Amino acid sequence: MADLSTVFAGLQLKNPIIIGSSGLSDSAENIIGLEKKGAAAIVLKSLFEEEILSEMNANLNRMNAEDFLYPETVDYYDFYEGPEENTVRYIRQIEMARRSVSIPVIGSINCLTPAHWTYFPKEIEKAGASALELNIFVLPSDMQRSAEENEKNYFDIIREVLKQVHIPVIVKLSYYFSNLASFLQKISQTGIKGLVLFNRFYNPDIDIETFEFTSNAVLSSPSDIYHSLRWIGIMAGRVNCSLAASTGVHDGNGLIKQLLVGADAVEIASTVYKNGTDCIQVMLEDLENWMNKKGFQSIDQFKGRLSQSKSLNPAAFERVQFMKYFRGFKNEG
Ligand SMILES: Cc1cc2nc3c(=O)[nH]c(=O)nc-3n(C[C@H](O)[C@H](O)[C@H](O)COP(=O)(O)O)c2cc1C
Repeated sequence: MADLSTVFAGLQLKNPIIIGSSGLSDSAENIIGLEKKGAAAIVLKSLFEEEILSEMNANLNRMNAEDFLYPETVDYYDFYEGPEENTVRYIRQIEMARRSVSIPVIGSINCLTPAHWTYFPKEIEKAGASALELNIFVLPSDMQRSAEENEKNYFDIIREVLKQVHIPVIVKLSYYFSNLASFLQKISQTGIKGLVLFNRFYNPDIDIETFEFTSNAVLSSPSDIYHSLRWIGIMAGRVNCSLAASTGVHDGNGLIKQLLVGADAVEIASTVYKNGTDCIQVMLEDLENWMNKKGFQSIDQFKGRLSQSKSLNPAAFERVQFMKYFRGFKNEG
């Protein structure tokens, strides 16, 4: 029998399928169901910096009114004493998940600035999370802000969080950087243990009848895999941490492709929303059957074989123009 185990961000996983941060893990029942179907780890839905901030402001106002406000109060504020708000609920959810399953449970926070991370990551660690994923994204739409300022924000956030916790820190990113490969390599050298390439974002759409903004496809499709396939392939073997692929991994083929270009694991969400939790088992069976067919006993025997640094055709990752397709391309579909 093929050995499907892998290591991602220092976590020993029974196979490479991690459930990506989303509402899929919002109850004990769902988490147990995901583990039963074969998920190797689960990233909980992100707690958003705005949520923490609004709560801190409310607490500060309360403390102000009670006349004992010191600058450091925010750090030491015992939020368990407060009303059961987002932060407390989040910690309780980690504790609940920890009790419900034996696979690693990964906490997730969405960070916009480095200013508010003096206490919450520690609480996530104390609650029993096996690792912490930082979902960092600021849309680079501010024309007054340089690329350097924008990038510095990422390093500042990571530095603050790394000071707080001993569990592995994973960073999930977008591809909106001016010099992506160099940036990802530098981020991987900060002390984080894993990089997730890439997050998927909400994009606005427009209704041409009503002139209103609407939302477009929230869930990915299998053809969305290619961006992360290229960049996992380019970065594998050139970063100082593990790599997980996210976006567009919907089936066994997608999983195998990401491992071949060098991913240590994948984080999936849309396929579980679309196809139900059974798809996890199907993906694992497909991986195992493929490994048996190709004569691989372990993932290490083929992981990264088609990465840019190991492949016999590294130029494949650099090709971006549809040069030959411009002449005489026919859509046969
Ligand atoms: C309904 C939904 C909610 C999500 N919520 C979060 C979130 O809170 N934090 C986060 O980092 N990613 C979130 N994501 C992104 C997923 O974790 C994942 O990175 C993305 O959907 C791409 O993977 P996929 O193609 O397998 O869906 C969410 C995705 C979906 C579909």
